[in-house]
Amino acid sequence: MNKIKAAVFASGTGSNFEAIMEADVPCEVVLLVCNKPNAPVIEKAKKYGIDVLVIDASDYPNRVEFETVIVDKLKALNIDWVFLAGYMRLIGPTILNEYPERILNIHPSFLPDYPGKDAIARAFKDGIKETGVTVHLVDSGMDTGPIIAQTRVPIENDDTEESLAERIHHVEHKLYPYVISQVLEKFS
Ligand code: GRF
Repeated sequence: MNKIKAAVFASGTGSNFEAIMEADVPCEVVLLVCNKPNAPVIEKAKKYGIDVLVIDASDYPNRVEFETVIVDKLKALNIDWVFLAGYMRLIGPTILNEYPERILNIHPSFLPDYPGKDAIARAFKDGIKETGVTVHLVDSGMDTGPIIAQTRVPIENDDTEESLAERIHHVEHKLYPYVISQVLEKFS
C-alpha cells in the first residue's frame, strides 16, 4: 500500500515542522506551504529536500484564488493529510472542502481556553496555574475544531513567559508527532 502523503503548513520558526520531520510518523511529508516569504521554516524545509510552496496571500485578490493555488499544489502531489504547525491564517472553504477532517492543528493552550494569537503570553499574564497544548481537527473557526488530544502544562511560580513557552514547545514537539501517528494508523 502506498504511504500516506502529508503537507505541513507553517508561517514562522518551524520547530513543530522539524519535530514532525524527525519523528517516526507513518506518512511521508512531501510539501511545506508557507505564507511568509521570510519565515525561517522555509530554510528548514529545504534542508529536508521537500517541495516548498511559498505563497503570500497579499499577492492574490481574494482568499478563494489564494487557496485554489494551494489546493492545486496539494492535489498535484497527491497529499492526503495537512498538518498546521504555526500557520497564522484561517483555513477557508476552498481547502476545507477538499480535505474534510483531514487537517490537524496544534495550539499552545488547553482549548477552548485562549484560542487565537499569543495564547502563551495571555495565559501567563493572567496568572493561572496551568495551561496546556491541544491537537484538534481544523474547521472554519479560530482553533474551534473537534479536539483530539490535550496535555496540561503547569505554570510554575518562578516561570517567566520564556521558560513557560519553552516548556510548552517541548510538550508540543512530543505530542504532535504522537497524535499524528495515532490518527494516521487508523488509515494505514
Ligand atoms: C506553536 O506554539 C504552535 O502551537 C502554534 O504556533 C507555534 C509555532 O511554533 N500554532 P513553531 O513555528 O512550530 O516553532
